[in-house]
Amino acid sequence: MLRFKLLKKDGNARLGKIYTSHGEIETPVFMPVGTQGTVKAVTKDQLLSTKPQIILGNTYHLYLRPGIEVIEYFGGLHRFINWELPILTDSGGFQVFSLAKDKNVSGKHKAQVILSDEGVKFKSHLDGSWHFFTPEFVVHIQEIFGSDIMMPLDVCPPYPVSHTTASDAVKKTIDWLKRSKKAKKNESQALFGIIQGSVYPDLRKESADMTIQLDMDGYAIGGLSVGEPAELMYEMTEVVIPFIPEDKPRYLMGVGTPENIIESVYRGVDMFDCVMPTRNARNGTLFTTYGRINIKAAKHKFSEEPVDSECDCYTCRNFSRGYLRHLFNAEEITGMTLATIHNLRFYSRLMENIRNAIKEGRFNKFREEFYERYNSLKI
Ligand code: GUN
Ligand code: ZN
Repeated sequence: MLRFKLLKKDGNARLGKIYTSHGEIETPVFMPVGTQGTVKAVTKDQLLSTKPQIILGNTYHLYLRPGIEVIEYFGGLHRFINWELPILTDSGGFQVFSLAKDKNVSGKHKAQVILSDEGVKFKSHLDGSWHFFTPEFVVHIQEIFGSDIMMPLDVCPPYPVSHTTASDAVKKTIDWLKRSKKAKKNESQALFGIIQGSVYPDLRKESADMTIQLDMDGYAIGGLSVGEPAELMYEMTEVVIPFIPEDKPRYLMGVGTPENIIESVYRGVDMFDCVMPTRNARNGTLFTTYGRINIKAAKHKFSEEPVDSECDCYTCRNFSRGYLRHLFNAEEITGMTLATIHNLRFYSRLMENIRNAIKEGRFNKFREEFYERYNSLKI
């Protein structure tokens, strides 16, 4: 079981602590994405220098490659990747559906998916082989991984989607959560529930109500940040948050930009994950106190300034914008590494600043001041 302690509230924003068998996590927290057992482009020590508290892995990818027998042989995911801090693994519910409609997956094969009451049959994007995920099997896989926080198999519909299809997804997700809970054997691992319902307030309420009745270790808000306007995402968060007990962590899956995170903390969310800092880093988009910059742009050619003069990361302490621009334009892989270190540190410092602001009861002021500076490049 997972313990969560609510330490302080500032409006709806919350400061808290999650206790796992691999240590404590201060919330609000951002979880860097390590889909395939590595956060892309950085080594463990480089990642640790950005001060992460927990990373995320993906059941879908790790099950397909290297396969559960390899991770089991190595004694679990922590030992396999040599990571001592907590790990949350996503269930594959999102990946099977998103890869199936993705025309540009990196694998050779077009992923396909067939949904039934029993589970989800899917075709691997790697070799075209067929596989079947049931809620029970997905819990079993994550128990082999030894994830600190497991996510249940869910149905995450695309946006936009009809009320009928969204309603079916809610019902299936609840049924699968009941089966996941029953299948769980290991007491030391946590299992969250995932609230679905697309952008329909009635379905979100129904999903939240039924999920909370199952008394899970924490609650995730899924099916958002899939192309809907940000305002709808905030609205859906506002609809479900009042249902969730105060003494349980709330996780908004796959979110998001710095603005999305601040707005969601403002509404009471505790946990986030997103590929944004890592993916953007690899294409040269860097986050700074004064907004996003494209490091490849000509205006940085002779810049001796660090990426962000207020950043304490390894990259900003050692290298200029001009040098980073050169690495990107010369397609040197070190550019991606240095950019990833910076963006991950930007996100972890953003969360530190958020936590300090809540602690000191000035979250609203922080929010306003952040936007004032972060949007100043746009003017
Ligand atoms: N990641 C982002 N959104 C979702 C979701 O709705 N379900 C799951 N399992 N993972 C997600
Ligand atoms: Zn930096």
